[in-house]
Amino acid sequence: MTKKNSAFHKLLVEQLIYELQSANQYLAMFVHYDQLDMPQMAKVFKNHFVEENQHALAMIDYLLESDLPLEIPAVPEVQNEFDGVVEPVKLALEHEQMITEKIHKLARIARDDYDFDGESFIQRFVDEQREEEDYFKSLLAVVEAEGATRFEIENWVAREIQTTASISAEDTGQQEI
Ligand SMILES: [Fe+2]
Ligand SMILES: [Fe+2]
Repeated sequence: MTKKNSAFHKLLVEQLIYELQSANQYLAMFVHYDQLDMPQMAKVFKNHFVEENQHALAMIDYLLESDLPLEIPAVPEVQNEFDGVVEPVKLALEHEQMITEKIHKLARIARDDYDFDGESFIQRFVDEQREEEDYFKSLLAVVEAEGATRFEIENWVAREIQTTASISAEDTGQQEI
């Protein structure tokens, strides 16, 4: 049985703020790349907007299943002005690194409290954070590559999205969050 009103639950409610803020931040980045006429980069951030909302929903479902009082928190403002092609990717990586610290704290608290449900639930997000950091690191290397044109960046991202899509289509054993 899940512990009620534990430190884990309080932190998880707080985590909702970060997931929803991440969603809005990536939405602003989607708009930025769309305005730069970079549809593939725009798509990357549109997909991440959807993913972050799914993370928030998964957390809301978990809190509801645990019969905990839940209010949807206010979401802090996000950055809307970016300088060129590289800055948003740098910010996205820094943002994911910050989120990873928070997810790891949740995992630590669940373990310290012997909250087995909480620990099991948060493990998916531990894995997700490792993948997201890895993705943004690779993307940063591409956009920062010396002499890379917008056209080359768009081509790389288009290939990468196609590869990821075909891998997840084959990988029926893997459950999406
Ligand atoms: Fe997330
Ligand atoms: Fe994320």
